[in-house]
Amino acid sequence: MTQYDQFAPFYDHVVGPRDSIGKLLQRLVKRYNPRAKTLLELGCGSGSMLAILSRRYKSVGIDNSKGMLKIARKKAPKAKLLHGDITSLDLADRFDAIVCPFDTINHVTSFAKWRKVFETAHRHLNSGGVFIFDVNTEHKMEEYRTDPITADVENDVVSMVQIKRRRRFHYDVILKIFRRRAGSDFTLNEMVLPELVVPTPIILRELAKYFRKVTLVDPDRRRPSPYTEELFFVCRDPR
Ligand SMILES: C[S@@+](CC[C@H](N)C(=O)[O-])C[C@H]1O[C@@H](n2cnc3c(N)ncnc32)[C@H](O)[C@@H]1O
Repeated sequence: MTQYDQFAPFYDHVVGPRDSIGKLLQRLVKRYNPRAKTLLELGCGSGSMLAILSRRYKSVGIDNSKGMLKIARKKAPKAKLLHGDITSLDLADRFDAIVCPFDTINHVTSFAKWRKVFETAHRHLNSGGVFIFDVNTEHKMEEYRTDPITADVENDVVSMVQIKRRRRFHYDVILKIFRRRAGSDFTLNEMVLPELVVPTPIILRELAKYFRKVTLVDPDRRRPSPYTEELFFVCRDPR
C-alpha cells in the first residue's frame, strides 16, 4: 500500500481538472514526434491524462498505486493499465512517446532513482521517440511554503495542503482531508507525500547521457525563468 492508495479517493477532488496539461502534452507529442502512434504514461495516477491521450494514441499507463489504477480504469477505459514501479520497469514493448506529467518524478525521492526513470524511459522508446516529463521547481515549492495552507471546500470534502521543507531540496507535502460523515461530523485523513526537487542544470547533465536534444517548456511563459513553477523537459533523439 502506497501513500497514494490512501490519497486515491480524494486525488481528483484535491488537484481539480487538468485538461490543459493533457492538451499541452498532446501538442508537444504532435510537434516533436508527429508520427507517434503509441504512448506510455509513467505514474498515470487516476488516468486524467490517459483519458485525453488514449483518444489519439494506443496508450499504456503504469502506476504503483492500485487505488489510483482502479479510478484510472473507469476514466480511461481504452488504455492498458499496469501495476508497477517506474524506476524498475521492464516491458517487452517500445513506445513512440513516453510521458511522466504532473510532477510525478518529484515523488521519486532520490536522484539515483530519477536516473532509473530516465534510463527506463530511454530503454522503452522507439527511435525517433519523445520523452516528456515535468517537475515542480524549487521556486514553486518555496512560494507555496511561504503561503502555507490552502483550504478548499467542495461538497462534503475540505482539503488543506501545507508544504514543509525538511532540508534544501527535500519537502513534505502534507494533506489534511476532512470528509463529512453526517451533519457537522467530519473524519480526518492525513497524508504526507515527500517530494525531491533537483536543480535544472543537474537534470540536464543527467539527461544528456540518454538524449541528444532537450527542450525546456514553461507552460505559463514564453521561456523558462527563475519564476517558473512547473518546468517541462522534452527529450528526443535517444542516444
Ligand atoms: C502527482 S501524481 C500524477 C498522476 C498523473 N500523472 C496525473 O497527471 O494525474 C503521481 C503518481 O505517480 C505515482 N508514483 C509515484 N512514484 C511511483 C513509482 N515509483 N512507480 C510508479 N508510480 C509511482 C503515484 O502513485 C501517483 O499516482
